[in-house]
Amino acid sequence: MLLENKVAVIYGAGGPIGGAVARAFTREGARVYLAGRTKAKLDKVAGEIRSNGGAAETAVVDATDEQAVDAFVDAVVEQAGSIDISFNLIGYGDVQEPLTEISVEDFVQPITTAMQSHFLTTRAAARHMIRQGSGVILAFGGGGPQTLPGLGGFKVALDAIEGHRRQWACELGVHGIRVITMKTAGVTESIPDNFPGRDDIVNSILKESLLGRTATLADVGNVAAFVASDLARTMTATEVNISCGALMD
Ligand SMILES: NC(=O)c1ccc[n+]([C@@H]2O[C@H](COP(=O)([O-])OP(=O)(O)OC[C@H]3O[C@@H](n4cnc5c(N)ncnc54)[C@H](OP(=O)(O)O)[C@@H]3O)[C@@H](O)[C@H]2O)c1
Repeated sequence: MLLENKVAVIYGAGGPIGGAVARAFTREGARVYLAGRTKAKLDKVAGEIRSNGGAAETAVVDATDEQAVDAFVDAVVEQAGSIDISFNLIGYGDVQEPLTEISVEDFVQPITTAMQSHFLTTRAAARHMIRQGSGVILAFGGGGPQTLPGLGGFKVALDAIEGHRRQWACELGVHGIRVITMKTAGVTESIPDNFPGRDDIVNSILKESLLGRTATLADVGNVAAFVASDLARTMTATEVNISCGALMD
């Protein structure tokens, strides 16, 4: 198994991407600590993992709250003995509207939430990983020049995550800590069936794919498990592109 004896914390683990990552990590032998604001969502994922023989704990944590994040990570390390992987997959509460129409509050919301949370969760993990001399920090998004109209501050937040990832990778490499972002052009399975305009969104994502398909939730989990594992020990300060060619590098 790729992640035997590894301890992973996953923020936003009650969401579709966080849940998929948690399932894949535990399938590969990791012990996972699932964090989010709604206990019921986390318990559902943890229950499924446990019924398949995996090890999962849950904690209600606001990933933008400095004290809450630090206390959570310290408690994980005290209980499990280490923190090997930290993956921040929280939603940013983004309002997606054209820039000429969006309020300044709605525009900056995803940017400030993403930066506050990624900084705090990375710093909390890094402080322990530096002592261990190893660790992997993961983010999920997709920076770069390709974008679409009407996204408000969402794509700007994803680009900010890339600047944040580079800065941390630059400072943490000397301690054996890797920092990586995974990017897709959208995981269609994660869009709820009743989401307004779902079919149009799915078709527009598929249209850009060179392979005629998009990453599934299982694909996201599988690649995340590989990237978090020691098989990917040469990879840091980079994005891992699982967009099926929709985002050309
Ligand atoms: N799905 C995609 O195709 C896609 C594509 C590109 C990027 N992304 C990004 O990848 C991430 C995961 O995607 P997703 O679709 O799984 O996201 P999501 O469903 O929007 O959010 C995941 C979880 O984050 C939790 N959360 C929100 N704010 C939080 C906070 N302050 N502290 C702790 N937990 C918080 C929410 O649970 P609670 O409300 O219970 O806390 C939610 O279940 C998001 O940042 C998304 O923007 C997704």
